Amino acid sequence: MNSIRLRSLSHLFLTLFLTFAAVGRSSAQTVGAAPAVSKEGVVPGATAAAAPAAAAGTTTGDAAAIAAGDALFKGNCAQCHAINDVVVGPALAGIAKRRPISWLIPWIKNSSKMVASGDEYAVKIYNQYQKQQMPSFQLSDAEITSIISYVTAEEGKTAGAPGAATGITPKDGTETPGVADATASSSTIDLLLIILVVVLIVMVVTLVIIANIMKDVLRGRKDLDGRDVEQIEQRFDFAKLYKSPVVRGLAVGIFALVVLYESVQGVMAIGLTQGYQPTQPIAFSHKLHAGEHEINCAYCHTSVYKSKSANIPSANICMNCHSQIKTESPEIKKIYRAIERKQPIQWVRIHNIPDLAYFNHSQHTQVGGIECQTCHGPIQNMEVVYQYSALTMGWCINCHRETPLNTKGNGYYNNLVKLHNTANGAAPFTVSSNGGTECSKCHY
Ligand code: HEC
Ligand code: HEC
Ligand code: HEC
Ligand code: HEC
Ligand code: HEC
Ligand code: HEC
Repeated sequence: MNSIRLRSLSHLFLTLFLTFAAVGRSSAQTVGAAPAVSKEGVVPGATAAAAPAAAAGTTTGDAAAIAAGDALFKGNCAQCHAINDVVVGPALAGIAKRRPISWLIPWIKNSSKMVASGDEYAVKIYNQYQKQQMPSFQLSDAEITSIISYVTAEEGKTAGAPGAATGITPKDGTETPGVADATASSSTIDLLLIILVVVLIVMVVTLVIIANIMKDVLRGRKDLDGRDVEQIEQRFDFAKLYKSPVVRGLAVGIFALVVLYESVQGVMAIGLTQGYQPTQPIAFSHKLHAGEHEINCAYCHTSVYKSKSANIPSANICMNCHSQIKTESPEIKKIYRAIERKQPIQWVRIHNIPDLAYFNHSQHTQVGGIECQTCHGPIQNMEVVYQYSALTMGWCINCHRETPLNTKGNGYYNNLVKLHNTANGAAPFTVSSNGGTECSKCHY
């Protein structure tokens, strides 16, 4: 009789536990599904507000696009832009309302071209930001659209928060809570899971206490038979657990997986030096020289448009200015010392692809018309230069697949373009259609 009661008690615990776990999971799923419902409500409103072009339909809502936009924004834009604050460039909140997507795409791909073309808004904002050039980005239309979705979703989030100063008008404010719902969902799920875990822990502790009290009560009774006593005195046996083949198998399996994952990650990262930022012998700042004083890159890196490699300037080039400027600065005196001793300044090399691959600057900068920033990042904002791109083979190849050849005004390509157009029609004439992904172009 007593043993039955004990067993049914433990069954009750188990049932409670399982029910709880099940409820937890399904409610998390409902929250996850909610945005899909609210999405329908959000898109039309946002479309109406967000400028012409069907592209705006995809501008908001889609959680996957927002996540992709999040990563792209952090990787490419965050060093200069924030949603609500001016950093280097303007705050991007409300950008989908300020500018149509048909303006944003060409702007982000090549802002200097838009400024040069005399686009009124582009010229205005360029002048407003002290003629700082925003770098060009090799992003697809879809990637740019996803960045805009992310920005729109983020501004929605802050608009939902009380007192947040976003500059969004009340009229638009009525639409934004819907957007906020869609993006807030992931943090809501996190919060819910944390609450559930806490509740579970509290429950387990309570149940253990109850079980102990009941055991104590039962121990006080005299009318128990042998099996009941055994049941009460039963302890949790760690030795048994340790010997269990299932538990051992699981432990070994998990350990093996972790080791495998770590070693694969390690192997993949061999030779990767992205982010490398050594300290240089002189505190030379690109931000000061190329940014604030707008000295042209090629003033110092004189061979970058003409030859395979971009040179590092000799001390003589520094002296063009520093024979006059800041002559008392200890950093500048290091330049004088190098010249007196007839020894070059020992700059630490940052970018370095292995000798097995051939890379040529002039092919990319002069012929291809690619901006330095596309590969080297916002150098004009760096106090100390770091390696911005991965410089892996995949990085080279990806760009060759996506980038159209710069064939304008280049007679060399005239016949090739004609041939390509008759053979492939609408497909863009990329570097790879011209053989830019053949092994021998880079390895020989
Ligand atoms: C190196 C700094 C820098 C980076 C990186 C950068 N921007 Fe900009 N951005 C600027 C500056 C500066 C302006 C102001 C216009 C100008 O001076 O050319 C600007 C202007 C803009 C504008 C116009 C804003 C308005 O209020 O009209 C948009 C949109 C924009 N950037 C989007 C982006 C996106 C998207 C990315 C990432 C893919 C990005 N920017 C990366 C510096 C940057
Ligand atoms: C006043 C001269 C000067 C100007 C202007 C200048 N640089 Fe430099 N650059 C240097 C010097 C000196 C170094 C080596 C020290 C260092 O890494 O900071 C260097 C290093 C670099 C490196 C890293 C080289 C390596 O070791 O791999 C890159 C990339 C670079 N510059 C790009 C640029 C770009 C892009 C611009 C224009 C936006 C520019 N530089 C403008 C002087 C200049
Ligand atoms: C075209 C002119 C020009 C050239 C070339 C040039 N600089 Fe400068 N440099 C400047 C100006 C302008 C300043 C800012 C002075 C100020 O803050 O008043 C400066 C500041 C500096 C400073 C900061 C000094 C301090 O104590 O504030 C250092 C270090 C420096 N330059 C190093 C170099 C080196 C190294 C080279 C050669 C690779 C170089 N510069 C080439 C114009 C130049
Ligand atoms: C298509 C991508 C790309 C573009 C565009 C580009 N670079 Fe580079 N840059 C590289 C790579 C890759 C290296 C490493 C080359 C090596 O190790 O042989 C490099 C290296 C350098 C170096 C170190 C010296 C050297 O040649 O190894 C300097 C300085 C430099 N770049 C400056 C510039 C400047 C200035 C511009 C714009 C005028 C520019 N780069 C445009 C990819 C690029
Ligand atoms: C940002 C885009 C971009 C990146 C990154 C890039 N390239 Fe290129 N590359 C181009 C373009 C565009 C051309 C074609 C230039 C032209 O001839 O108009 C080109 C051309 C070439 C060519 C000549 C191809 C031919 O058909 O003659 C070689 C070789 C080359 N790249 C090597 C490299 C290597 C090696 C890397 C990586 C270290 C690299 N590229 C990274 C855009 C890129
Ligand atoms: C656009 C230029 C480019 C093309 C095309 C290219 N590669 Fe590469 N490859 C590179 C660069 C750059 C590296 C060095 C990357 C690094 O160190 O991470 C590299 C590295 C390699 C390596 C690794 C060598 C090592 O020591 O790690 C192998 C193997 C290789 N390439 C084979 C090939 C083959 C096979 C093809 C043709 C299918 C090819 N590559 C096409 C640029 C290119």
